[in-house]
Amino acid sequence: MHTSLFWKNHFENNLKNQRIDWGINPNITEHEKTQILYSLKAWQLGETSDGSHLLKATSKYAHEINDLEYIEAVKLFIKEEQKHGSNLGKYIDLIGESRKSKDWGDTLFRKIRYFNTNMELWTITVIIVESAAQLFYKSLEQATNCELLKSICKDILIDEAHHIKFQNERLHIIFNQKTFYSKILSLIGYSILFFLTIHTVWFGHKKAFIAGKLNKTSFMKQMCYKYFNTLKYIHSHTTITPKNMKRSILNLTT
Ligand SMILES: [Fe+2]
Ligand SMILES: [Fe+2]
Repeated sequence: MHTSLFWKNHFENNLKNQRIDWGINPNITEHEKTQILYSLKAWQLGETSDGSHLLKATSKYAHEINDLEYIEAVKLFIKEEQKHGSNLGKYIDLIGESRKSKDWGDTLFRKIRYFNTNMELWTITVIIVESAAQLFYKSLEQATNCELLKSICKDILIDEAHHIKFQNERLHIIFNQKTFYSKILSLIGYSILFFLTIHTVWFGHKKAFIAGKLNKTSFMKQMCYKYFNTLKYIHSHTTITPKNMKRSILNLTT
């Protein structure tokens, strides 16, 4: 468990890391394009949200718990997502394709985001979508021989692993402030959301997943594994102590 200050420092430092060599020429084949371009454009659009609704919910929540640094951490988290959108967009431009400005999946999630002012709902939604993103970018990397696209995917995957940890920790805090019955209701809600999201993602992007050698059974299995890890984590006994807070900051700076 890390403090908001830790995460703020983590995102600040991570944003300075330039892991993509833009000097590499993109060499995606026409065949690869037919398999992945639709999904690549859709995820690119999804990564470009301005995050205003998430920030609104974050600000309300952070003031309630008196942890204003959490707002700064979330602002940087959004910036990192926008970096993914910008890198994928730059790639789409480089291969001479046009970016998408509308996608049914993006519209659906934007509508949900618009009405959502609850930090708990935001956090579990982000965790599920980030878990699917991990499988998507792994598949995308597998589905192409283009070195540039592979390195963009690798960069995103490094960031996403931290995003899930960041959000899991927040969900742990929120979940453990609940009463027993309220926890049960939350778990039912998380599971319905999980079930609906994984099917939406699979049916929207199965062509790209299959191109990356991930079939439906493996996708569902791996998503369940990730989801159960989140459930395990929020039920674990972990607290912020001055000792592990100090260790976290030391780990970050070494
Ligand atoms: Fe992302
Ligand atoms: Fe992410």
